[in-house]
Amino acid sequence: MEKTLNIKYREYASVAELGAGDAELMRRAVAATEGAYAPYSGFRVGAAVRLADGSVVTGSNQENAAYPSGLCAERTAVFAASAQRPDMRDYEALAIAGRNGGGELCEASPCGACRQVLLEYEQHQGHPLRVLCLLEGGAVREVGSVADLVPFSFAL
Ligand code: THU
Repeated sequence: MEKTLNIKYREYASVAELGAGDAELMRRAVAATEGAYAPYSGFRVGAAVRLADGSVVTGSNQENAAYPSGLCAERTAVFAASAQRPDMRDYEALAIAGRNGGGELCEASPCGACRQVLLEYEQHQGHPLRVLCLLEGGAVREVGSVADLVPFSFAL
């Protein structure tokens, strides 16, 4: 029997259309691109996660000459949040922004490994972690839950 999965998501024409908290979170993600260490790809990514107490932890991609040793912005952010605030391992939203080699803001959508990592924190907290991605031209895509990004996910 053939079956179909549907994913619900929202698009906003600009960051200004987001609620105040999400707009600020996206601004933090954009600012976090400046902390990227990306001499190999030239592609800088910033991520900002808002914890349940309203605090924000940011991360950026960190590359390495031994390529697989590098880490994406999303995992840098959420691992830092988890490590620094184990008491507040409860994430409301994650914003992601990319900056291409020319320095222009562009789309960055979490890779498969980051989705798997984010999913585990979402399952651990027991409620949705929303994901906001900056798109080409300054629009924003909002997915209401990491689970929507990882159908048929692996779990122990
Ligand atoms: N990257 C991220 O940090 N997050 C993503 O969502 C996709 C890719 C990084 C990994 C690498 O440093 C660079 O972007 C190019 O792939």
